[in-house]
Amino acid sequence: MSEENSRKRVLVIGSGGREHALCWKFSQSPRVEEVFCAPGNAGISQHATCISIKADDLDGLADFASKNNIDITIVGPEAPLAQGIVDLFSERGLTVFGPSKKAAEIEASKVFTKDLLQKYNIPTGAYRVFTNAEEAKDYIKEETGVPIVVKADGLAAGKGVILCYTLPEAMDAVDLILEQRAFGEAGKRVVVEEFLVGEEASFMAITDGTTVLPLATSQDHKAVFDNDQGPNTGGMGAYSPAPVVTPQLFQTVMETIMIPTVEAMAKEGRPYKGVLYAGLIIKDNEPKVLEFNCRFGDPEAQPILMRMKTDLLDLVEAAIEEDLDRIELDWDPRTALCVVLASKGYPGGYETGKVIHGLEKVQELDEIMVFHAGTALQDGKIVTAGGRVLGVTALGDSVREAMKRAYDAVSLIEWEGMHYRKDIGLKALKHIEGNSTP
Ligand code: GLY
Repeated sequence: MSEENSRKRVLVIGSGGREHALCWKFSQSPRVEEVFCAPGNAGISQHATCISIKADDLDGLADFASKNNIDITIVGPEAPLAQGIVDLFSERGLTVFGPSKKAAEIEASKVFTKDLLQKYNIPTGAYRVFTNAEEAKDYIKEETGVPIVVKADGLAAGKGVILCYTLPEAMDAVDLILEQRAFGEAGKRVVVEEFLVGEEASFMAITDGTTVLPLATSQDHKAVFDNDQGPNTGGMGAYSPAPVVTPQLFQTVMETIMIPTVEAMAKEGRPYKGVLYAGLIIKDNEPKVLEFNCRFGDPEAQPILMRMKTDLLDLVEAAIEEDLDRIELDWDPRTALCVVLASKGYPGGYETGKVIHGLEKVQELDEIMVFHAGTALQDGKIVTAGGRVLGVTALGDSVREAMKRAYDAVSLIEWEGMHYRKDIGLKALKHIEGNSTP
């Protein structure tokens, strides 16, 4: 078969910055004929053909993939994975990258994951599970005290983890989840978990069920305001590499967390294929698992994919074909740093439809990508359409340079109510330079 005929038609599912970065990366592969994205957004449409099928319309997506001779589908967000999109596509003979429904439970059920980690001695915080609110509250009042973490068992759009610093906050968190059912079915059970102190990092690997191939390290910034203040978001910025993950710690994470987890999933009859993302907390060079996600992190995927030199299609194909040990990943040694720009009010209620200015100025800059998350095209203009709107991602020879380049680009963009963190990169500098002054 000629090179031309063997080129692949790729479908990416989702509509965030992560999916924009995936589409951008696939569009660079000489082995890719066309990239489609469902449903995509205004920025993704520059790199892919956007299809107006929602990420939770599994049958619609499978029909599209069949009718349009899609060779390979990559699933961005967790919800369709937890709904069983990989099982459905596989039953219909469609090639898809991601974990099965049973394997995606590693993100979809916190109870499942905590029990798994405990059973296989994988380091994590102490915990108890409750279905009864009074019992959960008595346990907190009489045994743990505060601070404590209260988590809804299921998927809750990133809002189901509540950090409680006082007893009234803990009582309210239990009520919110178990009594008021603020997260619906996700709140049938709560996990009451030890409040671990330390520095967070994101650790992602691609696995074919046997080989565990680590990606470059990264660090997210979940709180909405500088200095990790304010409520949690989906992530307000990230960089790669993350200096907090030293080479020695990297080995420890692989040996004590990533490889044992993939082995444990296989032993449990839930072979794991896809991206395995461990949210870690690190104290005194010891990593513990806060959570697992069953997909690329967002925004972490944005800087990581900026640094990836390996053809992404080769990588995902090798994982699907259970042949991952033939891949050696090649990374740009520079730092990539992403600053997320958000709508006024996010992570609470926010307005949409605000015209975004300045994107064309950033487009002229080299080695800076503006990955779109919540954007749409309206009357020929790009407008805000979500809480997290853009991820301005820059490469630099040092953390300092990546910070400067990213924030210089941010200063060219504006819309009414735009907000962002000003300190993305400072934690990395603290590790590298022992201070936090940019
Ligand atoms: N940035 C956190 C996440 O992707 O879940």
